[in-house]
Amino acid sequence: MAPVAPTKAQAREDHTAPVDPGAALLAWYDRHARALPWRSPPGAPPPDPYRVWLSEIMLQQTTVVTVGPYFADFLTRWPSVEALAAAPLDDVLTAWAGLGYYARARNLHRCAQVVAGELGGVFPGSEGELRKLPGIGPYTAAAIAAIAFGRRAVVVDGNVERVVSRLFKVETPLPAAKPELTRLADSLTPDDRAGDFAQAMMDLGATVCLPRGPKCLLCPLESRCEAKAAGLEQALPRRLPKAAKPTRHAVAFWLQAPDGALLLRRRPEKGLLGGMMEVPSTDWRDSPWQQKDARAAAPLAAVALAGDWRELPGLVRHTFTHFHFEVTVWAGQAAEAADTEGRWVALDALADEALPTVMRKIIDHGLVQSATADD
Ligand code: ADE
Ligand code: SF4
Repeated sequence: MAPVAPTKAQAREDHTAPVDPGAALLAWYDRHARALPWRSPPGAPPPDPYRVWLSEIMLQQTTVVTVGPYFADFLTRWPSVEALAAAPLDDVLTAWAGLGYYARARNLHRCAQVVAGELGGVFPGSEGELRKLPGIGPYTAAAIAAIAFGRRAVVVDGNVERVVSRLFKVETPLPAAKPELTRLADSLTPDDRAGDFAQAMMDLGATVCLPRGPKCLLCPLESRCEAKAAGLEQALPRRLPKAAKPTRHAVAFWLQAPDGALLLRRRPEKGLLGGMMEVPSTDWRDSPWQQKDARAAAPLAAVALAGDWRELPGLVRHTFTHFHFEVTVWAGQAAEAADTEGRWVALDALADEALPTVMRKIIDHGLVQSATADD
């Protein structure tokens, strides 16, 4: 007789095996850990702290899928913290371009210099020492201490907050619930394999305990999940309603020299996109710009325009963490490639510039619209 295929229920794992949720989660991780380029397999010795640090900085506010190619590219260019420390900042910013939050790339570079210099190339293993380094906050310090050094540390990111709030049916809304969630995460964290445990929580949150539609039937913690028992798994974590994002406005000036080169300039060190190259633009303010004000804010009285500014059709839209951004682009033709506070860049060399995503959008828009208008 042919063997009978197991029913779905029989094929499900025995979720009642280990009593301790930490142990249950580690047993799950042993079988289901995602293979990610910065990780060691479950139970194996920890990966190189440089890789852990680099991945954790890159993963802040960004997804595993986005980070993958950047991580590989950085490791190819700069295989060690010494190599990264020795790189020109502009090269690092260029390689970072597209990941957003450029202050993180600057801090990454500064941190590499401190570790490669003062610390003799060795990352510290304690949360306290890690937190003294540029760009390393409480979350990152805990993650590195646990993942790269096997120290017991309580690692709480958004995934962990979601899993813990459901497991313990925490009804206090975020962000007020954070201290309570950290306490509860602490109560689950084992003394051994803290790095695997932290990453198991992250993986559970990313693949099973999903924000919408948690897959409780696949969850190793289902039998002890209070939210599931109460039918609240979709409803938690609760959050205070977010304030609507405001919209900010700017005019960007698409200025070309007689040979077609485009004027770029460096933004002030302080503030958003600090120190990054930009298509020269007005301040970013809360209301749309009137013609007269924008004209007064146009760059470089020093550069004589051949003709006048003309507003290109359409708008460039970009969304930052805390606001939407709408940019009108004005195109102008400079009478000569005069010396300015900026830099004239040939259009076919723009790809080599360290440009934030919003500036790439402005450039794409300028290329398309100024070409259309010229025809
Ligand atoms: N997000 C932040 N750190 C992570 C890690 N080590 N693995 C998976 N996702 C993460
Ligand atoms: Fe999340 Fe469901 Fe698992 Fe509870 S049982 S931790 S809600 S996936």
